[in-house]
Amino acid sequence: MSHIEWDPALATGHQEIDAQHASLFALANALDDAISAGVSDANAVADAIYGLTDYVVEHFADEEALMRQVGFPGASAHHSLHQHLTAETMRLATRYFNGEDLVASQITPFVVDWLRTHIQTEDMGLVGYIHEHELG
Ligand SMILES: [Fe+2]
Repeated sequence: MSHIEWDPALATGHQEIDAQHASLFALANALDDAISAGVSDANAVADAIYGLTDYVVEHFADEEALMRQVGFPGASAHHSLHQHLTAETMRLATRYFNGEDLVASQITPFVVDWLRTHIQTEDMGLVGYIHEHELG
């Protein structure tokens, strides 16, 4: 399976957020690698799904802590988007764990797709606010 490249255009300029986004891409690729390794390695697929979904939750929590820290006015709307994206990602993961094996291959494209859009709109807005107000 082809690897998803980290796109420098997705860099927000906030070091910690960018590093976490790059890690999300790496975990999404790790899931694809586990799937490519074959059905004989279902544990690796499950581990990769846990790794990715756990990190989605952790990353959103960190971003939300940052928003509180800087008093970002769009925090509540941004939080709602995070909740929606987490729920949709978890829904796919749950379907996989309920026996729909083929769903595993939908998780990476789904996560990478929303991540790209979310970074380019909401996260850029957050980092723009931080820079504008010289908060970080
Ligand atoms: Fe975000």
